[in-house]
Amino acid sequence: ASGARVFVCQPLFQNPTGAVLARDRRAAVLRTARAAGAFVVEDDFVRHLVHEDAGPPPPPLAADDTDGVVVHVASLTKATSPSFRVSALAARGPVLERLRAIQVVDAFFVPRPLQEAALELVGSPAWPRHLRALSAELRVRRDTMVSALRLHLPELALDHVPSGGYHLWPRLPDGADETALTAAALRAGVAFTPGRPYFCAEPPAGHARLSFAAVGGSAEIAEGVRRLRSACSEVLG
Ligand SMILES: Cc1ncc(COP(=O)(O)O)c(C=O)c1O
Repeated sequence: ASGARVFVCQPLFQNPTGAVLARDRRAAVLRTARAAGAFVVEDDFVRHLVHEDAGPPPPPLAADDTDGVVVHVASLTKATSPSFRVSALAARGPVLERLRAIQVVDAFFVPRPLQEAALELVGSPAWPRHLRALSAELRVRRDTMVSALRLHLPELALDHVPSGGYHLWPRLPDGADETALTAAALRAGVAFTPGRPYFCAEPPAGHARLSFAAVGGSAEIAEGVRRLRSACSEVLG
């Protein structure tokens, strides 16, 4: 009814909520797109960041797609390095040819040395070992942050603890000034992403996107939460 021709979604560990598309809604998404003559762009950006205790993730939506409705986008960046910018696009039918042509115009081609490095990396025995180590470390970091928040910042509501990805998304208390809290946190020496830009309409509440990726380890997470505690005490009272 909206006339939209494309539906962009992150079925696995959506950024910022960490939500996973419910099993019984997967078919509805594909059916609706098909009926509207639209494409589904599946941004599968954190498939390699499943936490150790999570069990196997659901397959990509693209696996259920029999009609060439889904364009699946995957990336190696998050599991390797922010500067290792190699991604993959999979689609069926004419849309693949069109996207390939656009890609050639847009970026010409992915540099050969980067392609070779990517192939060597994912083909090496060290790759699954790396993914296992990553998965274990992410779980430890998530649990460290969840425990520290529950202990020291009980006023932040953690409704959902994700089983993949690298951040938490607590809700701030009603009436909290998100901008003031972001500034106070920076003054206290910790940075987080405020929730406001993630909403296209008025947010139901303030949120904070707390990442546990760019830290040295659990000790830094504990220190970050301590600093956030002092910012919250200053701003939330
Ligand atoms: C939802 C989403 N899609 C895609 C990306 C980009 O992924 P990449 O770093 O692999 O380019 C990000 C980065 O944070 C993201 O949050």
